[in-house]
Amino acid sequence: MTHLINRAFNHDYPTVAGGKGVRLVDTNGKSYLDASGGAAVSSIGHGHPKVVAAIKQQADEVAYAHTSFFTSKPAEELADWLIARAPEGFGRVAFVSGGSEAVEGALKLTRQVHVERGEPQRSHFIARQQSYHGGTIGLIALAGPKPTRTVFEPVFGDGISMSHIPPCYAFRNKREDESEADYGLRAARALEEEILRVGPEKVAGFVAETVSGSTIGCVPPAPGYFKEIRRICDKYGVFLIVDEVMAGMGRTGHLFAIAEDGVSPDLIAIAKGLGGGYQPIGAVLLRSAHYDVLAKGSGNLAWTHTYLAHPMACAAALAVQKVIEEEGLLANCRARGAELKERLQQRLGQHPHVADIRGRGLFVGIELVADRTTKAPFPRAKKVAENFKKHAFANGMLCYPTGGTADGIVGDHVMLAPPLIITSEEINELVDIFERTLNETLAKIEKQGKTS
Ligand SMILES: Cc1ncc(COP(=O)(O)O)c(C=O)c1O
Repeated sequence: MTHLINRAFNHDYPTVAGGKGVRLVDTNGKSYLDASGGAAVSSIGHGHPKVVAAIKQQADEVAYAHTSFFTSKPAEELADWLIARAPEGFGRVAFVSGGSEAVEGALKLTRQVHVERGEPQRSHFIARQQSYHGGTIGLIALAGPKPTRTVFEPVFGDGISMSHIPPCYAFRNKREDESEADYGLRAARALEEEILRVGPEKVAGFVAETVSGSTIGCVPPAPGYFKEIRRICDKYGVFLIVDEVMAGMGRTGHLFAIAEDGVSPDLIAIAKGLGGGYQPIGAVLLRSAHYDVLAKGSGNLAWTHTYLAHPMACAAALAVQKVIEEEGLLANCRARGAELKERLQQRLGQHPHVADIRGRGLFVGIELVADRTTKAPFPRAKKVAENFKKHAFANGMLCYPTGGTADGIVGDHVMLAPPLIITSEEINELVDIFERTLNETLAKIEKQGKTS
């Protein structure tokens, strides 16, 4: 009997007892290979002594001081650390408690800058279909998955002015006669059409995950996509907000995933890999030029949270970021990520139900289909993603399968995002368990099909 409101109500969750490196263990002594870092969170693995020590030291010094009275050493140092490594033009950062607050912070800062620079009519946001930006009512309104939106739509009504363009998803949307780069341009130009449809003077910002994560399974942008997006945003005075809550802080082999796309956005939201799961923390980074508008204007942030720049969270995140740099984890991420894709390709590249293996760094998605030639997804009723997760868990592996890949309702993929410390041997183990799990899942589905 539990008094918790769990994610699934009729499910017995084992109790986690410990974690070390790429593994977690439950109170029954069963060990799990953490092949998804939870939800792409555990960037440096579990139980790193340097981070534990930093948290303890900060707790000894001061756990909390309200930001209306004080700044703190770990918050200042973490801000310096991130700004020194951020894309060109970024000069300021606000620390919040997670990914949703980071993305909402980015939207609110965008709006505030427009208001204070004399363009208060800019209040419309454009996002992409099949995206995830967070679990608050505002973000469900902006980009909630279809089943979630169905529940909450009557609550938010016209709450946020927004519209959508299709995602940059070459596997399903690129035409046969198009190159990847041509497709990238076409996908980006959907933004221009939407800006013109809404009225350029009304659009505040465009929000996109740099590498699309949980909803379509680690899909990197087509070559040139973000350069064209940047050009379009600049042309119409629209802010480019990149959501790197999942893809950022090393997950793709770069601290800021957008660095690979050669553009500098207006705002960046980060979270999961920032604190690596050691403390709940997110951040929104803002260009200096935009900060200056606010500094010369109201001089105040128009919104707050009680736990802004929490000292314990900042101390943990700073220690995590130092580990990433000291242990060369960005290079390990790139090398092990290439190995992971290569081994999956060798073992499953020709599998009749594996249609696409993709991603950047240790952020890898595997799209599963009923028919490889037509790319037809499995019927939703077969619950392929859910079944895969169950079998993987039974096999001692944590991974992140999701349904709705193809259009928000049907389609299945599995996301892999192991800690950046993973070794080649552990990659082999992961691929072995993945293959076994896939075959068991498909066998179960086939059996169900025969009996139903
Ligand atoms: C891309 C993206 N943005 C935002 C969020 C929301 O983050 P949080 O769950 O920490 O609020 C998530 C969470 O999965 C995410 O993947």
